[in-house]
Amino acid sequence: MDDTRKVIRQSKTLKGPFPGFNISAAPELPYQLFLEWFQVAIDNGVHEPHAMTLSTTDENGDSDSRVLIIKDVDENGWYFASSSLSEKGKQS
Ligand SMILES: Cc1cc2nc3c(=O)[nH]c(=O)nc-3n(C[C@H](O)[C@H](O)[C@H](O)COP(=O)(O)O)c2cc1C
Repeated sequence: MDDTRKVIRQSKTLKGPFPGFNISAAPELPYQLFLEWFQVAIDNGVHEPHAMTLSTTDENGDSDSRVLIIKDVDENGWYFASSSLSEKGKQS
């Protein structure tokens, strides 16, 4: 790439069009809206739509974030698989 800065600046941010969102018509529970949006992502060929970011804080209150794969979603929440010995397993 000849001019990296120029190439980066040509990349569009939040390139629409975006669907409308009527909050009063949203499902009662957040996971139901997530499932609707998840299906839209699948239908539109989004790569790895089941990737999520999990953020936690360590004992000093400093934050960590990492990518995980969603394993399931239901009325009780979002499920992921990992080791309880990992940083994310130890943090809150
Ligand atoms: C696409 C992708 C999917 C990942 N999925 C998982 C996962 O499902 N579970 C997991 O423990 N780590 C997963 N990882 C690795 C985590 O992002 C992370 O690096 C690792 O779990 C260590 O995190 P921690 O030291 O903050 O606990 C994934 C990484 C990528 C890039």
